[in-house]
Amino acid sequence: MEWAKSYQENQITIVYDTMWNGTRKMAEAITEGIRSKDKDVDVKLFNCAKRDKNDIITEIFKSKMVLVGSSTINNGILTAAAGILEMMKGMKFTNKKAAAFGSYGWSGESVKIITEQLKEAKFDVVNEGIRELWNPDEEALERCREFGRNLI
Ligand SMILES: Cc1cc2nc3c(=O)[nH]c(=O)nc-3n(C[C@H](O)[C@H](O)[C@H](O)COP(=O)(O)O)c2cc1C
Repeated sequence: MEWAKSYQENQITIVYDTMWNGTRKMAEAITEGIRSKDKDVDVKLFNCAKRDKNDIITEIFKSKMVLVGSSTINNGILTAAAGILEMMKGMKFTNKKAAAFGSYGWSGESVKIITEQLKEAKFDVVNEGIRELWNPDEEALERCREFGRNLI
């Protein structure tokens, strides 16, 4: 099924994990930014700690771009996000763009870690990602909307 690896629809999937909803708010603001620039693209948002991993992988399979978000925990990323990234690596998808995002408190490694893993999974990483401190304020959310607009 070689053809299947590079299959895509006009869809962007945003997958995130969060402890206190900071990264969720970032995901929602990025979604707003994308939708404000492109009314036709189907944007789907998933909390990977709550949704079935296989359903999420199916949505990623259909997507032309995937955004993966996690806050930083103990200099690393949340386990549900790590699990999805591991599955993404195993699927050997091709022809898909990607970027990372996440909230942090001080050291903020998560965006860098996700970006590296996306590269390892052979996604075409389009930028260095976006990170915001703690629960994002209105200025931070506006940066996230801008980030979303720039993806289009
Ligand atoms: C157990 C725990 C460990 C954390 N470790 C780190 C860390 O190593 N580096 C960092 O920058 N922030 C760390 N943080 C702070 C979180 O990244 C920060 O609170 C962030 O806003 C949480 O975003 P979320 O609501 O999307 O989970 C930690 C928070 C908790 C609760």
